[in-house]
Amino acid sequence: MLDNWIRRILQPPNQLIEKIDINSKDTVVDFGCGPGYYLPEIAKRAKTVIAVDISTEMLAKAQAKVVKAKKRNVQFLKTDGKSVETLDGSVDKIMLVTVYHEIGENEKILKEFQRILKPEGKLVIVEMIRKGHFISGPIQKPDELKAEIEGGGFQLEQLLPYKLFGLFFFIKAKDQ
Ligand SMILES: C[S@@+](CC[C@H](N)C(=O)[O-])C[C@H]1O[C@@H](n2cnc3c(N)ncnc32)[C@H](O)[C@@H]1O
Repeated sequence: MLDNWIRRILQPPNQLIEKIDINSKDTVVDFGCGPGYYLPEIAKRAKTVIAVDISTEMLAKAQAKVVKAKKRNVQFLKTDGKSVETLDGSVDKIMLVTVYHEIGENEKILKEFQRILKPEGKLVIVEMIRKGHFISGPIQKPDELKAEIEGGGFQLEQLLPYKLFGLFFFIKAKDQ
């Protein structure tokens, strides 16, 4: 279900990635990249992409997708769900598409995102906020999601509705 023709029609990967404003100097982490549905589109725009997942099988699929798309600026990293093995303050954007609700260790991972993000970096969380007919998944309540992530030292800058999704753009809170 994560990479098939129905999803490509209903959720074309370029449409969502265009909304994230990735530029050619950016290092972008796709946390919970799954089979790499968005990776070629991110790789087209960013300087470096770090594709992270807890599942070895998903990372293998993602790697095959990137090779097929002939993108050479993507690194692959397995996570234990709590850490991302990259340098402090080295990442411009972290994105999670329908992943945040699956992470069990939210407090720890938010701390890790604080560590790896540059001071002006952005955390982009994409979750379903409306029910769909063909594609479905757990629906998140925007107020609850905002409160939880702000509790981890971020500040909501913008909530952009897109199809069934909400794109939540967070920056580091001033006191971090
Ligand atoms: C619903 S899929 C979304 C995949 C991809 N973002 C997409 O939109 O196609 C969720 C992904 O998150 C990964 N995942 C779940 N818990 C995770 C965790 N704690 N840390 C990293 N990845 C996780 C799963 O292995 C899976 O690949």
